[in-house]
Amino acid sequence: MKILVEAERIKKEFYTILEKADTPQKLENVRVLFLGRKGKITKRLRSISEYPLHERKKIGEVLNRRKEECERAIEKKKKEMEGRVVDKRKFDIFLPGEEIEFGCIHPITGVLLEIEEIFTSIGFEVAFGPEIEDEWHNFTALNIPEEHPARDMHDTFYIDSKNKILLRTHTSPVQIREMLKRKPPFAIISPGKCYRRDALDASHSPCFHQLEGLWIDENISFAHLKGILEGFCKRFFGENVIVRFRPSYFPFTEPSCELDVSCSRCSGRGCPSCGGKGYLEILGAGRVHPNVFKNVGYEEKWTGFAFGMGIERIAMLKYGINDIRIFYENHLKFLRSFR
Ligand code: PHE
Repeated sequence: MKILVEAERIKKEFYTILEKADTPQKLENVRVLFLGRKGKITKRLRSISEYPLHERKKIGEVLNRRKEECERAIEKKKKEMEGRVVDKRKFDIFLPGEEIEFGCIHPITGVLLEIEEIFTSIGFEVAFGPEIEDEWHNFTALNIPEEHPARDMHDTFYIDSKNKILLRTHTSPVQIREMLKRKPPFAIISPGKCYRRDALDASHSPCFHQLEGLWIDENISFAHLKGILEGFCKRFFGENVIVRFRPSYFPFTEPSCELDVSCSRCSGRGCPSCGGKGYLEILGAGRVHPNVFKNVGYEEKWTGFAFGMGIERIAMLKYGINDIRIFYENHLKFLRSFR
């Protein structure tokens, strides 16, 4: 039948023109040209009555199928175009951009960086040591005797008790490693994680942070220790802080001391926030014990001092935090408050 051949030709023509329609307006023109009231397909459908009765059904079927096919093709292209329009809008430089949320530095890291900044500004270098240590570096070389309670299974995490491999209980083994590695004089600080077999509560955590300091030179006296540590406290806590040195004991220093700073709320008078004590302990320190020098093979002319501070404790003091656990719980509200 001639009309069916014609329908095929119209179909080809439709697709050729549709292909070139690249705007919504041109697409609408295609629709009118083929499917509008006087459109090429509509016109053929209207003329069905001119054909013999027995042919009309077949012609009607074919033409209607073409019509629906063309409608669908136009609809599809229209959707694609709308999609493209939206894409283009995304690149509109005048539209406000998507907001990118910035994170912030964790308070423990922040405090560590601040302390590092103070010590490096007066010539200390930063050194790192392993968190998995052996008993010799963690205890023996530091003059901590065999029967010391810190060596007990109840106080230390042993990874391999036969070979005496453990998680370091303080940052002091870095002193030993650096003394063996370097030639004096030198001054180092060493920040990092430490581990003790403590139950987690408001003031204890089995994993915590310390920062160690060590200065080795000739003729280093206790006055150097006091001067450096007092200077540090004034820079970190503010000029008005009162620093107090108390005699203490550590196996690897002699003489030893502990350093307290005055409570920022009551300036040492005693108030509820410092438990009435007026002062808060922040670090241990002392002149390096002669046995430690012996253990690393240093000549007698070398002297030095060392100190170790708990970072959580200092961060709690600085920010008025009364529960250590909050540092590790990843509460976004808490963390965002340090932005
Ligand atoms: N390592 C000691 C501790 O963990 C602190 C300290 C370091 C004391 C250096 C004196 C000298 O308690």
